[in-house]
Amino acid sequence: MCGIFAYTGDKKAQPILLEGLQSLEYRGYDSAGIFMPGSPLVKTPGAVTELRKRVHFTSDAKSGIAHLRWATHGEPTEVNAHPHADCTGDVYVAHNGIIENFRELKAELEKRNHTFKSQTDTEILAHLIEEGVVAGKSFEDAVIDTLQQVRGTYGLLISYAKEPGTVITARMGSPVVLGLGDGENFIASDATPILRHTKEVVFLNDGDIAIITPTSHRVRTLTNSEIDRPAEHVDWDTEEASKGGYPHFMLKEIHEAPEVLENAIRGRLIAKEGRAKLGGIESVADTLADLDRLIITACGTAYYAGLLGEYLIEDLGGIPVEVELASEFRYRKPIIRKGTAVLAVTQSGETLDTLEAIREGKRRGALTLGVVNTVGSTIARETDAGVYNHAGPEIGVASTKAFVSQVAVLSLVALFLGRSRGLSEDEGRKIVQGLQELPELARKVLKLSETIRKIALKYKDARDFLFIGRRYSYPVALEGALKLKEISYVHAEGYGAGEMKHGPLAMIDTKFPTVAIVPQDSVYEKTLSNMIEIQARKGPLIAIATEGDERVKEVANDVIYIPKTIEQLSPVLSGIAVQLFAYHFAAEKGLNVDRPRNLAKSVTVE
Ligand code: M6R
Repeated sequence: MCGIFAYTGDKKAQPILLEGLQSLEYRGYDSAGIFMPGSPLVKTPGAVTELRKRVHFTSDAKSGIAHLRWATHGEPTEVNAHPHADCTGDVYVAHNGIIENFRELKAELEKRNHTFKSQTDTEILAHLIEEGVVAGKSFEDAVIDTLQQVRGTYGLLISYAKEPGTVITARMGSPVVLGLGDGENFIASDATPILRHTKEVVFLNDGDIAIITPTSHRVRTLTNSEIDRPAEHVDWDTEEASKGGYPHFMLKEIHEAPEVLENAIRGRLIAKEGRAKLGGIESVADTLADLDRLIITACGTAYYAGLLGEYLIEDLGGIPVEVELASEFRYRKPIIRKGTAVLAVTQSGETLDTLEAIREGKRRGALTLGVVNTVGSTIARETDAGVYNHAGPEIGVASTKAFVSQVAVLSLVALFLGRSRGLSEDEGRKIVQGLQELPELARKVLKLSETIRKIALKYKDARDFLFIGRRYSYPVALEGALKLKEISYVHAEGYGAGEMKHGPLAMIDTKFPTVAIVPQDSVYEKTLSNMIEIQARKGPLIAIATEGDERVKEVANDVIYIPKTIEQLSPVLSGIAVQLFAYHFAAEKGLNVDRPRNLAKSVTVE
């Protein structure tokens, strides 16, 4: 998730672009860049403060494009920062999204003597447009031709030095909004930087391409030269706009689950063969083929995702897995023999304990791997190989979309390892199909938000909660309890449902509700009997169960029905349900769920 912002009008573009970019910093902040026709291209690692320091001139340009990057392909360096230029230095492109077929296109462009400066997927776009304009096509036609060749997602800004007043944009999977002013027009990845200038906006649809000048805007598609996209008047303030109209970043990020799942699996599944293709770990495929033990290490939510990784990798990959809190692993004397790998799971890639655990693994001779969201972060750099989440930056302190993405990526890793071991093609295809269906099923869970809010409200006075689950639902129980306590400050504990009689059952009374994660899976009957034990002690029960399950209604006071999926992937859907439960429970209390007290987003100290 990057931020894009463009201006064309009758004022100086430089201050408008820099100020607009600043307000998009929540979308990405590892590098930034700005291009205004007639002025030098400026790019830098870091965010807008760094960019301001590097813009040593006052440009008279009345148009320009600017970008804040959250890296996907290539580290967050100056050269990889956007905008990217073509060989002639006339075409500049800023991009939010991923071009899936960039390798093939780049190879062809290189054969035609184009020189590339960056490792990004985006740069090919500038060169393809260059070929069009050099061949005599109009700027617009050159863009259309280019878009016909690319596959993937994009929210694009394109500036052509020979037509300085025009900016072209295109949307496919990544949001783009036009802002319509008086003698000036804007383009951005969301309305945030636009609203201080105008409240008249046009939200583009996938497949739309728009051409703006100071006094005109036109929307078209690849095939129709003009289509009607009416302008809307929005009354949001800037803060509301940055949250996409949601009251909190946390709720916005929970609602990003379908997109995050699509980003996690995009280009990584070979459906026909029931396999996963993970470029980031293919370089160590030989070592992985001989792997006889995997240690997953992480903290907090990422640790719970790691527990699911254990189940998935043992289930599909047949490799013994241990999961260890990074803060413990680094101080033990872990026994690491040949054939052991240590895998870190981390959103930020900067969590100190996880980093030190990886270093400890490395010191002891293990192959180190990462499932990391932040490209170019310390853990991404220090591990031998890994898989990126591509989930975009997470602003809310509570991990939500990162958890969903971590589970999806770990299931890809499990599939990758499994298919090179005993997992049959048929079994592999079931996982592939399950993963492909997941974004749509996640959308269905998100539609339950209001139902879940009403249920959470019924329990608003409870001071203690228990979360229980078995097998794949056990880590979700742990995560549900963590989510609730960290944002609502209400005591919550996660337990394996089978542990009830070993202690926690003693706590149950009419004031101690239990959230039971009980999908119709291989341990359904067992969890249901644990719920019956709770029911017998008059403990209130909220079930997260599979759509159509009538039996659970007889036991639980309230039921949240989630769609059916394969057992291995049900934590993604029940995970979203517990996130919504925690969110509504805390938000109804008026708490600042995005910044819970005493907590920081990234824990870079012990
Ligand atoms: O950035 P990381 O994934 O390494 O962070 C690990 C934990 O600090 C993090 O998951 C934390 O538990 C969450 N913010 C809880 O919601």
